[in-house]
Amino acid sequence: MEKKSRLQRKLDHIENTLKLSDGPNSPGFEDIYLIHQALPGIDWHAIDTSQNLWGKTLAFPIIINALTGGPLETEGINKKLGLIAAEFSLGMAVGSQTAALENSSSVRTFKIARKMNPKGILIANVSANCAYNKAVKAVEMIEADALQLHINAAQEIFMDEGDRLFSHLEDNICEIVSRSPVPVIIKEVGFGISLECAVKLFNIGVEWVDVGGSGGTNFIKIEAARSEGWHATSLTSWGIPTAASLLEIKGSNLPLKLIASGGIRNGLDLLKSLALGAVAGAIAGPFLKAALRPGTDEISKLVMHICNDFKKGMLLSGCKNIADLKKAPVIITGFIKEWLNERNSPCK
Ligand SMILES: Cc1cc2nc3c(=O)[nH]c(=O)nc-3n(C[C@H](O)[C@H](O)[C@H](O)COP(=O)(O)O)c2cc1C
Repeated sequence: MEKKSRLQRKLDHIENTLKLSDGPNSPGFEDIYLIHQALPGIDWHAIDTSQNLWGKTLAFPIIINALTGGPLETEGINKKLGLIAAEFSLGMAVGSQTAALENSSSVRTFKIARKMNPKGILIANVSANCAYNKAVKAVEMIEADALQLHINAAQEIFMDEGDRLFSHLEDNICEIVSRSPVPVIIKEVGFGISLECAVKLFNIGVEWVDVGGSGGTNFIKIEAARSEGWHATSLTSWGIPTAASLLEIKGSNLPLKLIASGGIRNGLDLLKSLALGAVAGAIAGPFLKAALRPGTDEISKLVMHICNDFKKGMLLSGCKNIADLKKAPVIITGFIKEWLNERNSPCK
């Protein structure tokens, strides 16, 4: 019964992602400006957009973020996303593998991503709740280069069947991080990582954080829409906008490696994310929507659109590679500036 409901939940998430819009928060990128350099001093063809991660090279610093797997209907989605990740040398995370750890018939819906992309960066995904031995099985299942542990309290408490126990998560994360055979990324799913949370994570040995800020796919809206109990909530605007989350953590000077996600929708959002200190940007909702269209044309178009704008933005800000982009001057205005002021961030 429980297994059946987990698989059904995965299909409900897809259906509701298609029905519901991003937000209502903005990820905050409209408050971030890079400086136009009228004399960029670089030729278009000399721009190097590549980024090295875990001993492999991405052509662009883009990760297709955790989406799906589990129900057999999702195998085709992971197949398309795996193909595209291989074609464009992007990273990819699979959706939560708990279904496959509980029922081997779901394993193929995850393995397909590795089959389509034997050499690329593939990231396993389980809950931060997961037992260490199961997390290792998830890594082995897809020969993953890294492991995402998702932390999603906001989503769980809006899920009728969701978890209500969160006090043990730090101990569990600490155990997995200290024993994992691959790098571990702690990932929010759209409500952001605060400075306080980043400090806690750092203190238990975490090196990689996917900030998963608000402004994109909104799991409070999705779970409220699937709930049989209450449909209305005042909390849809809950969360830390992605740009604020990145900057809060950057301002701490903790040696954490950041992945930006939550509402990254185009090449300019990605460009700004890297200028704010992220190693890469991760995108979920738009890839799912494109993957549900026939063939792979829509996903290819989406990737090319993001990559082209990203490279153009690099040229116009005078950055010949990702290292330059990290050092590019950034202007922070409006709500994000106010947020950082209120938080006494040195980044304001
Ligand atoms: C249909 C759907 C399923 C998702 N499933 C997972 C999951 O299994 N594990 C996870 O860590 N995140 C999951 N996510 C969250 C995304 O990885 C991402 O954190 C979130 O959607 C915010 O990014 P976005 O605004 O680019 O969509 C899912 C997202 C969607 C839309």
